[in-house]
Amino acid sequence: MNKKYTIDEYISMINSALEKALEKCGDNVVSEAMKYSVRNGGKRIRPILVLEFCRMCGGNVEEALPFACAIEMIHTYSLIHDDLPCMDNDDMRRGQPSCHIKFKEHFALLAGDSLLTYAFSSVLSSETAKKYPEKTLHALSVLAEEAGNKGMIGGQVIDLESEGKEINSETLEKMDNLKTGALIRASAVMGVIAAGGSEEQIEAAGNFALKLGHAFQVIDDILDVVGTEESLGKPVGSDAESEKSTYVSLLGLEMSQIYAKKLTDEALSSLEFFGEEAEFMTELSKKLLSRRN
Ligand code: IPE
Ligand code: IPE
Ligand code: MG
Ligand code: MG
Ligand code: MG
Repeated sequence: MNKKYTIDEYISMINSALEKALEKCGDNVVSEAMKYSVRNGGKRIRPILVLEFCRMCGGNVEEALPFACAIEMIHTYSLIHDDLPCMDNDDMRRGQPSCHIKFKEHFALLAGDSLLTYAFSSVLSSETAKKYPEKTLHALSVLAEEAGNKGMIGGQVIDLESEGKEINSETLEKMDNLKTGALIRASAVMGVIAAGGSEEQIEAAGNFALKLGHAFQVIDDILDVVGTEESLGKPVGSDAESEKSTYVSLLGLEMSQIYAKKLTDEALSSLEFFGEEAEFMTELSKKLLSRRN
């Protein structure tokens, strides 16, 4: 059986790999802004999913690290742009001033753009890409698809179009599956691909992660109401201020909590496919349901 890791071990591997990758991301104000936003902590859920799904499917976790870094770079870019005044207009992120507050809007915009492209170039220049060109092509095509306009960007479009409106639960589900589920699904699927897993494993991982991502966004919406800025590291009440359509605005707090639990249970049933190997992921999914940040 493959060596098991703790969350802290994963986070420390991911942070070292990110530091190393970012050493070569340029030498100007935009590279400073990229490092500032990536280094600012964050739960690193997406890269953990990459590494753990790789491990669960019998792969070498070290070789999946470039994919783990790439997803975190893309996620961080999405947060930098999400916080801009033209989007959610939030001044705090991961416990520090948002990128555009620290580096001005134009450099924050470019730091986001640059993290998106650097995610791909850093994977392409990795040892993993040299050793496994086919796996790399497959993983990056999943990443590009899920991050793009048919994935995360498409969800952000629905989010912005839905401000100040009442949308139905189907539209809300589509929005969350795209804006948050897509990158979370890409993470799990890339982990399986890195391990050379089967089509069935890819499908089960994808189904699990889509549900987990949906639950994750419902909890994020709940925390925007009941959380504290101190523990979240980002402003609370931002969704109401921007008149966002969320599960909380549609169903209320209590029903949203019940819904998040239902989605997590559905996610956990997809995990059964992985048998005993799913222990870490089962625990992590449960922890995410009661998270405070
Ligand atoms: C925040 O994601 C944005 C959402 C998609 C809900 P995370 O809650 O994973 O943010 P970090 O990476 O921990 O800061
Ligand atoms: C963010 O959703 C989704 C993406 C960044 C793609 P939110 O706008 O709810 O995320 P937070 O609450 O600002 O982290
Ligand atoms: Mg947003
Ligand atoms: Mg936001
Ligand atoms: Mg939010």
